[in-house]
Amino acid sequence: MNQAISVLLALAGTLFVAAGAHAQDAPAGDAVAGQKRAQVCIGCHGIVGYQASFPEVHKVPMISGQGAKYIAASLNAYKKGERKHPTMRGISRALSDTEIADLSAYYAQHGASSLKAVADTPAVQPSVQVAALLTRGACVSCHGANFNKPIDGSYPKIAGQHADYLSVALRAYKTEDNPQVGRSNGIMVAQVKQFTVPELKAMAQYIGSLPGDLRTLPQSKFR
Ligand code: HEC
Ligand code: HEC
Repeated sequence: MNQAISVLLALAGTLFVAAGAHAQDAPAGDAVAGQKRAQVCIGCHGIVGYQASFPEVHKVPMISGQGAKYIAASLNAYKKGERKHPTMRGISRALSDTEIADLSAYYAQHGASSLKAVADTPAVQPSVQVAALLTRGACVSCHGANFNKPIDGSYPKIAGQHADYLSVALRAYKTEDNPQVGRSNGIMVAQVKQFTVPELKAMAQYIGSLPGDLRTLPQSKFR
């Protein structure tokens, strides 16, 4: 009898853990609620060509069409300070887990209906030099075919992202001891160590020139 109870308790424990892990893997966000929340975001992420000027000048990243798990992971990275960007830190600190899941669900599907399927083979071939850099970093092995199909949902789509943003993002993984610039993700910190800043920029230029799912879409006001 006692044994049966402990087996049941152990089983319940496993189920609980499994459910918890699942919730973290796939934030089941509500895209409609996310659309309302996104009022806070459109002033920067909903204006085509909008430039951020602090701490560095570059175009604000495109997030419509990005993967939901990656959007949630990056917002949590700002919230925890693993990414130091001051504006996004302030914005994400004000968001609950539910709001992050809703916003991620909203932006992942935003504009998806207008997307054309992106081919798995690169539309543009890299120069010999850039091809050698990409091979050295095995970038495709994680960011996926044509840099648009990451092997894990928590990894970003980067094809067609603004090249100046990609360059700033790559440099941030190299930056230490700066209170306003830096990213601590272990995978990418190890990656960028093997490259010079001009090499990172050359890869960013190429990846930004590829067709991909990412868009900046003006969002209709919704009050
Ligand atoms: C004042 C302008 C501004 C506002 C408002 C803003 N963002 Fe951002 N966002 C930025 C900038 C600039 C970056 C790039 C930061 C960096 O270099 O890490 C960014 C980065 C991001 C990223 C990471 C993108 C990537 O490819 O890693 C996500 C996701 C994001 N923002 C979502 C949001 C959401 C959701 C909101 C609204 C709740 C929002 N942002 C509001 C300017 C803004
Ligand atoms: C082992 C897997 C892996 C490899 C290999 C890899 N990446 Fe990444 N990459 C990631 C992950 C995971 C992230 C998200 C990190 C974070 O949350 O800050 C990322 C983030 C990025 C970003 C930031 C995107 C954004 O929207 O902010 C860029 C740019 C990038 N990688 C480019 C590259 C390039 C170029 C290479 C090859 C030199 C490369 N990656 C190799 C896994 C990888």
